[in-house]
Amino acid sequence: MRIIVMDNYDEMSKKAALMIASQVMLKPNSVLGLATGDTPIGMYKELTKLYNKRDIDFKEVRTFNLDEYYGINHENHQSYYYFMNANLFNNINIVRENIYMPNGMEKDVNTSCNEYETKIKELGGIDMQVLGIGGNGHIGFNEPNVNFEAETHLVNLEEETIKANSRFFKSINDVPVKAISMGIKTIMNSKKIILLASGLNKAKAIERAVNGKINPNIPASILQLHNDVTIILDKEAASSL
Ligand code: PGA
Repeated sequence: MRIIVMDNYDEMSKKAALMIASQVMLKPNSVLGLATGDTPIGMYKELTKLYNKRDIDFKEVRTFNLDEYYGINHENHQSYYYFMNANLFNNINIVRENIYMPNGMEKDVNTSCNEYETKIKELGGIDMQVLGIGGNGHIGFNEPNVNFEAETHLVNLEEETIKANSRFFKSINDVPVKAISMGIKTIMNSKKIILLASGLNKAKAIERAVNGKINPNIPASILQLHNDVTIILDKEAASSL
């Protein structure tokens, strides 16, 4: 694992955006794995700036998102589809057909999860996967007591995650309790991984993921076994290391 500690959130975001830009420069039709949440918003802003300066071209890029709420359609402002459009896709020259997201409205969940996995493989696998981390050590929606062997699947969200996500909803009762998420196996099959974390509330999870024993209670700890992981932190998130 490579660990990069930046002074603050903005510097963390710039560093991550530059890593993605380098990836796309070296391989214009890169397959990117993308994440939602507060953490990558600054990185998406930086990528948009780089695009506006013509320093990055998304014309041939393909993307797969890590996860999506279950039972929420794409028009819903809380859907991750909506988030990705607002924060990145609407602002760059990505081709719509090259955007892949888990479908939270699919009745036959197993088939659609299998199709998602097949599509990732068909396109040659994910070249660079972006991750955030939950305060409980989750990556994607792979919650503690995770099955390290799982591919894309339907998951039940932990109470801590539902609480954390309720800040985006009118009431906690509106927060979906299930989601579709890439599994740990899907994530581990990515060629490169960058994990971003900012703020004191992530410090403990980072410490346990980086220095703790690899164990299913801290899903991110499995990343210790991947051979190309870069963790980009601000000072607060790095404060327990
Ligand atoms: P956050 O979420 O970026 O909103 O903190 C990260 C996560 O829960 O994976």
